[in-house]
This record gives sequence, C-alpha cells and structure tokens, in this order.
Amino acid sequence: MRLILTENIKEDMKLAKAIYENGNILLNKGVTNLYKYKDKLLEIGIKHLYVEDKYSYDIKINQTIKDGTRRKGKKIVENTFDKIKKGFLDLNTKELKNVVEDITDELVLNEDVLLNLVSLKSTSNYTYEHSVNVSVICIALGKMLGYNKNDLFKLGMGGMLHDVGKTLIPEEIINKSDSLTEHEYQIIKNHPELGFNYLQQIHSISPLSRIVVYSHHERIDGSGYPRGIKGDEIHEFARIAAIADVFDALTSDRVYRDKWPTYKAAEYIINNTEKLFDYHLVKRFLPQISFYPNGAEIILSSGHRGIVKDQNVGFPTRPVIKLIEDDEGNEIDKKLDLLKHMNITIIKVVV
Ligand SMILES: [Fe+2]
Repeated sequence: MRLILTENIKEDMKLAKAIYENGNILLNKGVTNLYKYKDKLLEIGIKHLYVEDKYSYDIKINQTIKDGTRRKGKKIVENTFDKIKKGFLDLNTKELKNVVEDITDELVLNEDVLLNLVSLKSTSNYTYEHSVNVSVICIALGKMLGYNKNDLFKLGMGGMLHDVGKTLIPEEIINKSDSLTEHEYQIIKNHPELGFNYLQQIHSISPLSRIVVYSHHERIDGSGYPRGIKGDEIHEFARIAAIADVFDALTSDRVYRDKWPTYKAAEYIINNTEKLFDYHLVKRFLPQISFYPNGAEIILSSGHRGIVKDQNVGFPTRPVIKLIEDDEGNEIDKKLDLLKHMNITIIKVVV
C-alpha cells in the first residue's frame, strides 16, 4: 500500500485501510471507485489515505501499533475527556489503563528497528488521536532509553492525558479557527495546571504521569510554561512528552495546514534542540525513526519519481526507492537503493 493525498485519488485505486468517522466505519478496506467519495472525505477532514494501485503491490508499511488498539485508545480518551467536561469526579481509569498497557506491550514487542510514526488523523478528531499518538511516541522514546515496563506505562499514561486540562477550558476558545487574542492565549496556557490539579484528585493516576501533564509545555531554555523552568529542572518524562507533542502536532493534518512530512518535522526538532528540546533525548530519538517512511511518494535529484519501499537502518535519509517514473516522465519499475547511490538525494516529498 502507499500514501496519497485525498485530492489525488485516481480511478484505479482501492482503499487499503478502512476509514472511520466517530468510531464507525465510513469506508471499508478494499473499496473501489474511491473517486466518488473524494468530496465527502475532504469535507470531514480526511486529507490523506492509504491506497492500493499498480505501483503499491510490493510496498509494505510497518505499523507501530495495531490499528485496532489505536482506535480503541481514541474512543476511550474521547469518553474520558467527555466525562471530565461533564464534571465527573469519580473517573474510572480502568479502561484507560488497559489500553495504555496494550500500547506498551505492543511497542515492547515491536522489533522494527526504525519506527514509522505516520498516523493519519481526520482534522475533526484531532485531539483524541493526538493524545493516543503522543502516548505512543512517549513510550517508543522511553523504550529507546531503556525504561522498564512500569515506567513506560506511567510515561504513556501521562502522554495520553497530557492535554486533559483543555477539557476544562471553554470550547469556543479551544475550537476557535481565527487567531487567538492575547487574553484567550493566556487562558489556553492554563491547561497544564488545570489538568494537573484535576488529576490530583484521581489517586489511581501516578504522580509521574501527572508531571507529564503539568510540564509538557516547559522548554529547555526556560521559555515554556507554566513555571518557565529550565534543563534538568524539567522532569525527563516531560522533556520526552514535549518532543512527542510537537512532533505529532507537526506531522498531523490540521484545518489550517496539511501535515508536514516526517523529515521536515525531524528538521524542526533538530533546529530547536538546546533551545526548546533536550539534546540527549533528540539524539536518541531521531536516528530511530523513518524520515521517509515506506509508502511516501518522493522526487529525486536525478529527476526520477518514486515511492519509498524499504529502510536502511542507521541511515534514515537513505531509504530504498521503487522508481515509478524516469526524468522524462516515462513509466518505469525499478529499485534504487539510495545507500548505494550517494550522489542522488531526495529533493521533494510529494506526500
Ligand atoms: Fe498541551
């Protein structure tokens, strides 16, 4: 399968992964004549999708966690946030714990050396899918650092709940599509503290998870909030969550912009290391993710067009490419290992 922009759906494409809306299947895997659903998909904020076509038959996409686990996580976060909005104080965290345990188990067992962190989100369900993904990236980074399972779980729980405080802020401010006034921005900036204070009442949530909620907007140079603390004063869990939060936000489709390709988000993180993010954590994180994940369509400096087919471990910018078009636009079907052709570089990611 491969990734395409919804607006580029062609006649010969078949849906490779089911699309869900509010927990229900909207379009099943295998659906043909996708073209007629294009407008509806764009309308509900599905800007990217996975398809099968004549180019994709030999391209395999590795999953970081199972789609079913991701969906379950999203549903549970949504229910949890809903209850908090309605003022429930006796929050039952059992389901939430179960799903974070499932994510932890799947990531601990996942032996893929390079992580594919592409997770497609519809713009309308961003908050819940983002919560799950921050949890996934936090646990993946914790695993790279050698954390034990118990710590991975607490870190993942913090990632899942990192923005829980936003449920306690008026929806008209959270969902505002115009730019925020200074006053509204100040209100949003209260969300780490609001979330932390709320969780203080929920004794089944570990203090280590609460630290993630409280400090995920702190930055290494002290420019973050709520406390403006620096460097090691910020708990390592929160320093991890800061990277996960920003990385996932950048690689997600939003109403006001398309998702950034993974390599561009990685560059942003690198450029802001020492200022915003912890150098040592970034150094551990970036070599272990696919900068150009399998299924991404790219253009090479040679003028060829292709799709990323495989990864070269330790060389995130030199994947194996399936060439589909030569420099004159003629259709071809050839494999090119960028590790063996160091003179050729990827100059553009189409999707
Ligand atoms: Fe946040």
